[in-house]
Amino acid sequence: MKIAICASEVVPFAKTGGLADVAGALPLALEKKGVEVVVVMPAYACVKKAKKAKFKKVLADVSCAFIGKKIPVYFIEKEEYFDRDNLYTTKTGDYPDNLDRFSYFSKRALSVLKEIGFQADCVHCHDWQTALIPVYLKTICAGDPFFQHMKSVFTIHNIGYQGLFLKEEFPKTGLDWNLFSMETLEFFNKVNILKGGIVFSDVINTVSPTYSREIQTKEFGFGLEGVLQKRRDSLFGILNGLDYDIWNPATDEYIAKRYSADKAEEKSRNKAYLQKTCGLPVKDTTPLVGIVSRLAQQKGFDIIAEAIDDMCRMDIQLVILGAGDAKYQQVLEQMMKKYPKIISLNLGFNDPLAHAIYAGSDLFLMPSHYEPCGLGQMISFRYGTIPLVFRTGGLADTVTEDNGFIFDEYSKEALVSTIKKAVVLFKDKKKWPRIVRNAMNENFSWDIAAEKYRDLYNKVHSL
Ligand code: ADP
Ligand code: GLC
Repeated sequence: MKIAICASEVVPFAKTGGLADVAGALPLALEKKGVEVVVVMPAYACVKKAKKAKFKKVLADVSCAFIGKKIPVYFIEKEEYFDRDNLYTTKTGDYPDNLDRFSYFSKRALSVLKEIGFQADCVHCHDWQTALIPVYLKTICAGDPFFQHMKSVFTIHNIGYQGLFLKEEFPKTGLDWNLFSMETLEFFNKVNILKGGIVFSDVINTVSPTYSREIQTKEFGFGLEGVLQKRRDSLFGILNGLDYDIWNPATDEYIAKRYSADKAEEKSRNKAYLQKTCGLPVKDTTPLVGIVSRLAQQKGFDIIAEAIDDMCRMDIQLVILGAGDAKYQQVLEQMMKKYPKIISLNLGFNDPLAHAIYAGSDLFLMPSHYEPCGLGQMISFRYGTIPLVFRTGGLADTVTEDNGFIFDEYSKEALVSTIKKAVVLFKDKKKWPRIVRNAMNENFSWDIAAEKYRDLYNKVHSL
């Protein structure tokens, strides 16, 4: 079985969110199962900074580095498109040439497979940035014998990001205008790249069973629920795994004191360290609540903002790490100004601090309005940090009353009363250690998820 994974971000080379974690960990898990896998991604400016990576030129515009035992990652170079500091956006919004950039990447990813002679059984594409690949396979590549038996799996990590562009930009895809139709890539007179991936891929999947059902509804489908319903027989939901080599408190190089499930009490050294470095009073008896998140509408900052006064009246501390929308940065800055002794706000993308927050916090706050899978809660489990979430998507599939706190109504009131409940339980010397133990004993390893992906590739291959 030969699989080519094409993605716009891959750990350890480039990351803005969970997509990178998945695109970096899935190939490693597949390799362990005997699948022959290659990865293709753009050569952004940050790629060169990856620790321990050795790059080798393989084509005039393609270099390669290895992950796992012998998985080649191919980096497509094009200076004017990819040699930039950010992946998709600047402070003022999305790069205006994103359609040029990712049409180019998608086309070149396929031609690179041909030039290196990797005739994949299946190309596994992720999110809108690579959604044109299934379209190209069924259109401009259709006459080429090299691609004749190549199937596609398209994973939707977040249907809130569809790659929407003005109609005038359609020619940048290189596709015939007859594909700008209601059945294919047209969406309310705009170009919708994600829709192309849904329509043209052989199999679609998303990153949790609950989310695969939710996106077929008006509430969560972002306008594509009808298109997904039409393809429901080819739509699956596979819960992501977590890379337990990267996210492991017993070996984590970024944390003050390493610990494991049988010595969870040693976690408190990380708490004291986090409080100190974040300028908060060092108090073991006060529950420390952590947030590590993209600053986006999806992530629940609206109800956090409404709840903040009530929250700060309780005996808690809050450490926030976030990067993203300026709007939510301002909301958080205002909170921090109002409660400087309770809230530590850290803006930006900061991997070492993220590890320190997972290790040092008691609770992990993730009240996302929708969440396709969510890795934050799984990482928290691993670090004995108890997630507090809204019941949606992958959060509903992973968080229970035994390993966390989960509320059913998306409202400030429900959030506040659940935090109150958590604060009371935190003081319970018998029940709290039990819930920490349950969390740390959860198993969301990639081994299970990779098995399901292998079954899916087999299914698509036999179509
Ligand atoms: P999403 O992909 O929607 O952002 P996930 O929970 O699936 O949400 O994954 C988020 C990943 O990105 C996690 O690995 C999390 O630790 C990381 N992350 C999010 N924001 C930051 C940040 N500001 N700095 C460092 N890591 C972050
Ligand atoms: C997306 C989703 C998140 C998911 C991640 C990896 O960014 O928002 O829920 O965990 O992709 O699949």
